[in-house]
Formats: sequence, structure tokens, C-alpha cells
Amino acid sequence: MSNEVKKAEGKLGVMVVGLGAVTTTFMTGVLMARKGLAKPVGAMTQYDKIRVGKGADKKYLKYNEIVSIADLNDIVFGAWDVYPANAYDAAINAAVLKEKDINPVKDELEKIVPLKAAFDKNYAKRLEGDNVKECKDRWDMTEQLREDIRNFKKENGVDRVVVLWAASTEVYVPINEEVHYKLADLEAAMKANDVENIAPSMCYAYAALAEGAPFIMGAPNTTIDIPAMWEMAEKTKMPIAGKDFKTGQTLVKSGFAPIIGTRCLGLAGWFSTNILGNRDGLVLDEPANFRTKEVSKLSTLESILVPENQPDLYTDYYHKVRINYYPPRNDNKEGWDNIDIFGWMGYPMQIKIDFLCRDSILAAPLCLDLVLLSDLAARAGRYGTQRFLSFFLKSPQHDYTQNEVPVNHLFQQYVMLKNAIREMGGYEADEEID
Ligand SMILES: NC(=O)c1ccc[n+]([C@@H]2O[C@H](COP(=O)([O-])OP(=O)(O)OC[C@H]3O[C@@H](n4cnc5c(N)ncnc54)[C@H](O)[C@@H]3O)[C@@H](O)[C@H]2O)c1
Repeated sequence: MSNEVKKAEGKLGVMVVGLGAVTTTFMTGVLMARKGLAKPVGAMTQYDKIRVGKGADKKYLKYNEIVSIADLNDIVFGAWDVYPANAYDAAINAAVLKEKDINPVKDELEKIVPLKAAFDKNYAKRLEGDNVKECKDRWDMTEQLREDIRNFKKENGVDRVVVLWAASTEVYVPINEEVHYKLADLEAAMKANDVENIAPSMCYAYAALAEGAPFIMGAPNTTIDIPAMWEMAEKTKMPIAGKDFKTGQTLVKSGFAPIIGTRCLGLAGWFSTNILGNRDGLVLDEPANFRTKEVSKLSTLESILVPENQPDLYTDYYHKVRINYYPPRNDNKEGWDNIDIFGWMGYPMQIKIDFLCRDSILAAPLCLDLVLLSDLAARAGRYGTQRFLSFFLKSPQHDYTQNEVPVNHLFQQYVMLKNAIREMGGYEADEEID
């Protein structure tokens, strides 16, 4: 193991913004796994094995055999939410998991009581909760959140905290160069209470970084996808990762599009639609909130099947993404893809993929991986945008001011993930596929 990575000693605080379907499924799963009552299926940090070394020396090791990763037993959870329900009641309300899979950890879940949210109804009109902070302005909002993090550390005896956004998708905040490009401008806008340009999520991110905690954006919000936050991450030497958990349809897309691209088939159109009935679906039914999601979901294909690289195959394909709120399905989303491809001499063909998935069941292992790997990155002294975490994200952060193109191809992202783990473990990076 490398000497440069500090060991994961002591407890790790995981403070989650939003105590809804994803968060309660994540927390319940971790607590159940700790008791040996459930398996953390889908979590790369718990299962994946990476090859290190080559030829006769090669070995396949789990992540924690390569580099020090926090143990599930060392995690302490905290949360903020607009609704006051504790994690047990929220898990029951979310109705993702059966009561028999929640009750064995009821006592622990009941103790996770959400702190008052930093919230502005203009950013999620369909939420009615009143567990909300009273704030003079956005700067005060940030200060109150910083205090929450400091108190959490003190009360729970934790040195390291990671803050994860798994709250509702906010309305789309277009990037405004005058406010979002420089840290000094961002801070000035918070102090001037510029509520148009400063979303509550930006206050959480700023507070986390200021308190020495990595910040992960699990929704498609602009939040940390702005140069001012990159500057803040550099200044505080903290890792950031975003945005939008890559769970169902986009996971399929980023794994399936390479089949078309690798085989040099043409693409005429890709229509993706979803029906979803949970609170996330309700919020996304609001056009302004859906816009944020749409921008994130659309970006995946364009960087895998690139028209400029293959004009015969990928010029002008029609890409559409829709989400429809449909209560009977609750958290059990149906993601349906119709793909119109063409082959030899331009003859058309179709592929249909119907993914009957469970949204929060897919998102929970990503929460765990993103939290543990951001904590690892912080201990390894890595800061700023963590590109090796793109594997987990629908719309990976990239420096668009320098025309950097994000990597969306699932298997290229996997190489980046493996190499970062290898490097942090003191092994050589390589490009072999295994
Ligand atoms: N489940 C998935 O597959 C998936 C994939 C990608 C992204 N996401 C994103 O994850 C997020 C959570 O999804 P979910 O299904 O758990 O939603 P949810 O509606 O069940 O939970 C979100 C919670 O966030 C709370 N909230 C909203 N604004 C807040 C604020 N400012 N501060 C504190 N709490 C706040 C809400 O009250 C709600 O309880 C959504 O943004 C969703 O788009 C989910």
C-alpha cells in the first residue's frame, strides 16, 4: 500500500442532503449489511476486484486490499430534509423496501433525525415541508450549514465528513459568468442574497468545502459544475464529484452505445422514455425541474457517438429523453428505449430495451461508492473535480471553459476508475481490458 494515502482511521461522517427514497434505501442497506442481514449488491467498493501487476505477478484484489477504504462499521449518518420525519418513518413512507427489511435496524434509523433544510420553495415548487431554516440571506444560509457540520462532527466524534446531495432536483440554474465563474463573485452574490443565481444546493456545497468535507452532487443541479466552485475546491484542497447518479437508463445507454460505435453501425435516432411514480418523479413533472434532468440525460450519447468523427454514421441523429410521472409505479421505474440504427447500405433496423428497474435500489450502491471513494480521494490529497468518479455519474463534470469533453463511455470510465485506485495503492496504471 502507498504511504501517501492517509489510513481510514476512526469514524466517517456521511451527511446527506435529502432524506427521501434514495437516502433511506442507502442508509438502511448499509446498516443491514453491517449486521450481516443484507448484501451491498452493486457496490464496486464492496465487490469489484481489480488486477494489479502483470504476467506472472498479476493478482486480482478488492479495493480495500489495494488502498485503505473506510469500513461500513465506521460510518455515522446525518441528514437534512424539508420534512421532519426520521429515517425510519421516511423509509416506510418511501415504500422502496419492505418493512421486514427495515425493522431490524429501526432503532438506528429512528435516531437519524433530519436537520432543518436550507431550502427555497422557488427551487422545488411541489415540496411543502416546514423543517426549514430561517435565513437572512444566502450567506447566512451557508453559515448555518457550516455550523451544522461542525456540530455533527463534535456530537459524533468524527474528524472526516463527506456531504452527499441526494435531495430533489432543483430548477435549472443557467450558468452566469458574472456570478459563477469566480469564487469572489459567488461569495459576493451570496452576501447580496442573489436568490436567482445562488441555489440552496450551492450553499450546501460551499459549506461542505469550507468545513473540509468532500461534496458529491447526486442530482443534475449546476451547483458544483461552475468554475467558482472548482476554485473553492482548489482553495480548500477538497474533492468534488458530480453530477447525477448514473443508475438506470443512462447506465444502459453508456454501456450500449459503445456496441453501436465499436461495430461502426449508424444511428438514426434514440428515444428514451421513463414512467416513474415516486416523489422524484413528482418533482421532475415540473418542467423547470425536468429541464435540469434533460440537459444531464442528453449529454451522454453525443460524446460516445460523435458526428464529427463519423459523419456517415452519426450526423443528425434524433435524441429525445422524457420522464413521465405515473404514481402507480412508485419507485419501480420503467425505462424504455427505442433505438433506430442502420447497417450495410443504410438499411434500417431497430433495438428496443425495456428496463424494469428500481430507482433507489440502483442508486443506493452508487451513494456508498461515491462517499467512500471521495473520502479516499481526500485522504490521498486529491482535490478538485474527481474525473475517476465519472463511472458513477450521468453527466460527469469537465472543464468546459477549456473545451474539455467529458468521458461518457462506460468502459473508458471504468479504466479511469481502476487506474485511480491502482495509483492510489502505489501500483502502475495500465489500459488492459480485464
Ligand atoms: N434514484 C435514482 O435512480 C436517481 C438517479 C439519478 C439522480 N437521482 C436524484 O437523486 C435525488 C433524490 O431522489 P429520491 O428518489 O430520493 O427523491 P425523494 O423526493 O424521495 O427525496 C428527496 C428529498 O430531498 C428533500 N429536499 C429537497 N430539497 C431539499 C433541500 N434544499 N434541503 C434538504 N432536503 C431537501 C425532499 O424533501 C425529499 O425528501 C433526486 O434529485 C433525483 O433526481 C436519483
